[in-house]
Amino acid sequence: MHIEELDTPHLLVELNGLEDNLDRYQDYFSKHGIGLRPHIKTHKSLTIAHMQMRRGAIGITCQKLGEAEVMVAGGVDRDVLIPFNIMGRAKLERLTALTRRTTLTVAADSKITIRGLSEATTAAGVSVGVVIELGGAGRCGVETAQLAGELATLADSLPGVELRGVMIMPAPPEIRPFLQECLAQFDAKGLPYPMVSGGSTPAAFTAHEIPELTEFRAGEYPVGGMKHLQLQTHTVAQCAVRVLMTCVSRPTANRAIFDGGSKSLSAALFADEERGSLMGHIIEFPEARFSDASEEHGQVDVSRCDPQPKIGDRVQVIPVHPCPTFNEHDVFAAIRDDRVEALWPVHARGAIR
Ligand SMILES: Cc1ncc(COP(=O)(O)O)c(C=O)c1O
Repeated sequence: MHIEELDTPHLLVELNGLEDNLDRYQDYFSKHGIGLRPHIKTHKSLTIAHMQMRRGAIGITCQKLGEAEVMVAGGVDRDVLIPFNIMGRAKLERLTALTRRTTLTVAADSKITIRGLSEATTAAGVSVGVVIELGGAGRCGVETAQLAGELATLADSLPGVELRGVMIMPAPPEIRPFLQECLAQFDAKGLPYPMVSGGSTPAAFTAHEIPELTEFRAGEYPVGGMKHLQLQTHTVAQCAVRVLMTCVSRPTANRAIFDGGSKSLSAALFADEERGSLMGHIIEFPEARFSDASEEHGQVDVSRCDPQPKIGDRVQVIPVHPCPTFNEHDVFAAIRDDRVEALWPVHARGAIR
């Protein structure tokens, strides 16, 4: 099928760009002896996860149990990390069931989480790996090395949990002193840390500056997005995720309306220093400002475009944040050189629990 035959709006993944990204990130991590553990929350696709495993990934990262259940059921079951505090009876029952089908590690940053994991796994007669989440970026994670040491000691002492090390998000080189301080606590207590897990695509190519890292979680690298264009880790061709849209109205000389809004691109905004907030980059009209959207209407300032888009023109838009963009779609077209090679499901769409 030719891409012209696809109805719009439609999610696309350009396979040349995707494969290029999968290869260049895997090559970097293999060269530096760091395990790549892709975060599948970006694409949520079994097909892409299998491509990542075939290229040498050591396992996968899933943000939620539901994502992990989908991946494991689909055969991506070698080794799974869920970097999230898992609590409550409903989730702990699912977690213990999942430990029977894969090697599972979860993150914890409190005694409450660690004790809950231990009680549930012990009752079910199974065990789960635990990494202590280190903080510092305003989200979860312990903020002192002393607390990291205390939680590691607790995890090491309880039944049903196996202390595996630490994780931190994100992991630019600046986090190294804190990471070293935390690992010194492990050393002082004689505790193991076979897993030292860093993460985030923008920090991927500096991972070798933190020799303590044994593995790295990157999510967005296969497809990029506007942020990666600006950081220059990805070219337009390497931003493999796009939303195909049609110009449906030209209400004024400066405004074009496309048939994709927040329900196809997601509502994520990118703050551009010169051009204000943007919702996407239109490949065919790079001077256009995709400045706003309602659910089904993309509002684009085309005053700087020459020529300007006409009613009926079809364009490919690189979204700001690929992860929620995938979550808006059941399926995406895998395209190569304007041919549709396949339609692939977004298997773990909406798996937020
Ligand atoms: C815990 C964790 N690890 C890894 C990642 C992957 O980061 P990125 O999407 O920048 O590749 C994320 C993304 O939010 C994350 O939350």
